[in-house]
Amino acid sequence: MSDLPIVPFGDLDRQYRNHREAIDGAVRRALGSGWYILGKELAQFERDFAVFCEAPHIVGCANGTDAIVLALMALDVAAGDEVVVPALTAMPTATAVRQVGATPVFADIDPLTGLVTAETVAAVLSAKTRAVIAVHLYGQCCELAPLKALCDLRGVHLIEDAAQAHGARDAGRPVGWAGAATTFSFYPTKNLGALGDAGAVLTHREPLAQRLRRLRDYGQASKYEHVEHGINSRLDELQAAVLGAKLPALGAANARRRAIAARYDAALDGHPRARPSLNRQGEGHARHLYPVLTEAPEALRAALSAAKIGHASHYPKALPEQPAIAAPRGAWAAAAHFARHHVTLPMYAELRDDEVARVCAVLAAR
Ligand SMILES: Cc1ncc(COP(=O)(O)O)c(C=O)c1O
Repeated sequence: MSDLPIVPFGDLDRQYRNHREAIDGAVRRALGSGWYILGKELAQFERDFAVFCEAPHIVGCANGTDAIVLALMALDVAAGDEVVVPALTAMPTATAVRQVGATPVFADIDPLTGLVTAETVAAVLSAKTRAVIAVHLYGQCCELAPLKALCDLRGVHLIEDAAQAHGARDAGRPVGWAGAATTFSFYPTKNLGALGDAGAVLTHREPLAQRLRRLRDYGQASKYEHVEHGINSRLDELQAAVLGAKLPALGAANARRRAIAARYDAALDGHPRARPSLNRQGEGHARHLYPVLTEAPEALRAALSAAKIGHASHYPKALPEQPAIAAPRGAWAAAAHFARHHVTLPMYAELRDDEVARVCAVLAAR
């Protein structure tokens, strides 16, 4: 065992080497263009990613947090408004809400999927609620039809945070079908990752897309014509070129993730103390992360570490438990329990079959 190599939790170097030719060519092209912000590379990537997402408009921006900020700004969410955020998600979902001056209010999760539902969201809606952010955590879409029906009924905006869900589908429909705006992160470890920070907003509404384009560029409607206060949040040409070079491989990479997940599922089948989080989306699950739910997370962590297998936790605390968040109202018992009773396994397209087998051997040990 001791001379076995480590199975890394993630390995971006492998990914780069896998796509090296395409990436290097794209970077050389962008470098040689003499135009580095809001140019042809971004315009092409926005068109290509829109085709991939089966949506009419993609607006690139600097990162996934800004994508949420821009979506909130474009929907006029501001100070005094409340925005519903899952009690289990990455911190930036709430950070973005604070950035526009609004207050995040936390909805609990379904204990089996880790996702918010129309029921958990309905429980925290108030007269001040202006928007709901449904986070497609781990690559699995929230069940959007009931969430959209609820938001429509209550007159609040639905935003989909798809930072972890490039290529995911909700009951056959592409991620982003329900939200007024849907946000993506292209942080390097995401299913589609840049070689630095990058993000995007998807929308089906032309006027909203136009406003997003202004807001990301100091509120400019045309050169030096600032019709409102925006921010500086642009996806630069180098990162756009890299993303464009990697995009053609995203479908196959997601399929590889699903194949790995199927092997983990099989290894956990019938396990007395551990099980996969529930997959309600079948092949629509983009498998960004693979959490194992277990009442004995320390034992699983120890077994993985002993076998030299990387592991992590997404996330170790419910979001409202973070020190930066001053306890707002709400109840998040399921999120707090999920946070303390799961372990996330290595999950990336470049994971080799022999490495998957080593992870499965640890999972299968009872
Ligand atoms: C669910 C979720 N939302 C938002 C973000 C923010 O994305 P970025 O790191 O690109 O700002 C992330 C990335 O960590 C995320 O996982």
